[in-house]
Amino acid sequence: MKYSRIAGTGSYLPKKIVTNEELAQKVDTTDEWIVSRTGIRARHMSSPEETSSYMGYHAGLHALEAAGLNANDLDMIIVATTTPDKGLPNTACLLQERLGITNIPAFDITVACAGFAYALSVADQYIRGGMMKTILVVGVDVLTAVTNWEDRSTCVLFGDGAGAVILQAADKPGILSTHLHADGRQKDSLCIPTWLPGQSKKNELPYISMDGRAVFRFAVRALEEVVVEALAANHMSQTDIDWFIPHQANLRIITALAEKLELSLDKVVITVDRHANTSAASVPLALDEAVRDGRIQRGQTLLLEAIGGGFVWGAALIIY
Ligand code: UT7
Repeated sequence: MKYSRIAGTGSYLPKKIVTNEELAQKVDTTDEWIVSRTGIRARHMSSPEETSSYMGYHAGLHALEAAGLNANDLDMIIVATTTPDKGLPNTACLLQERLGITNIPAFDITVACAGFAYALSVADQYIRGGMMKTILVVGVDVLTAVTNWEDRSTCVLFGDGAGAVILQAADKPGILSTHLHADGRQKDSLCIPTWLPGQSKKNELPYISMDGRAVFRFAVRALEEVVVEALAANHMSQTDIDWFIPHQANLRIITALAEKLELSLDKVVITVDRHANTSAASVPLALDEAVRDGRIQRGQTLLLEAIGGGFVWGAALIIY
């Protein structure tokens, strides 16, 4: 039986950091409100040069280096992003060009904050099926570019960054299973109402719009269900998990989930305080941080989950 395993992780964060106090000078908010409602204290914000392909390239290079590989070893590139550099070509192609390689498939997956879970799942199927041996999977977003900086209810929530993994064929797991879901009926709860210039309607702006309470309620329930589903599929329980790496949107969602799952916060990787919500980058950024600081060790069991606008959500159980 074939499996895919994480051979290396990497990440990239823009140099510029914006604190809550700095935001409070621009919109009617306070550090106290942001911290108590979200757990966010600061976020990284990209410069015009720090596009998705640029950040994804640097995260990918770090992941290749950690895996002891170079770009020529790759069979495929998958980039999860909702904020591509251009309408076309896709971000994965631009990243491929930055890596100086040609002639391997390279494509984007647009699944908002759940993008990394989806991309990991697709890559896992290609490797298990025997078609590919080594795949670069990147989660990257520049949500600050699609944020309305006059809307205090959303502009305090988002940040930019990229995370990457190299998935490689292996005889032992590796990824145990991935679980993906979507519910398009919830399309208006979290969306960017307009995108293509020719299709813009009056009063619709190309910025993130969100019904925060509805997203919060749905997220806690859907994420609990998908985590339970992932554990059950592998005949595991919460006590088998060494590290829980949740989507980093709101500390209250993370703690509510950890409580429901009876998981100690000591086992939860948390970056939302410093990164805010980096969308498709949030889970791989947290994963890379905990791998590099030595918390996550080879052989440990990891549980990943994420949810985004759609709604779309997913989870993965992994032996690191
Ligand atoms: O990947 C998934 C992405 N999104 C999420 O996961 C977000 C899920 N939702 C949330 O995290 C929370 O709902 C928020 C953090 C967005 C909002 O927290 P909340 O506790 O649900 O607050 P609320 O939206 O119910 O707003 C409470 C009050 C309102 O004032 P009134 O109507 O009670 O007078 C808002 O106008 O807080 C006000 N408010 C703010 N005040 C200061 C909203 N944003 C701010 C702000 N600063 N930045």
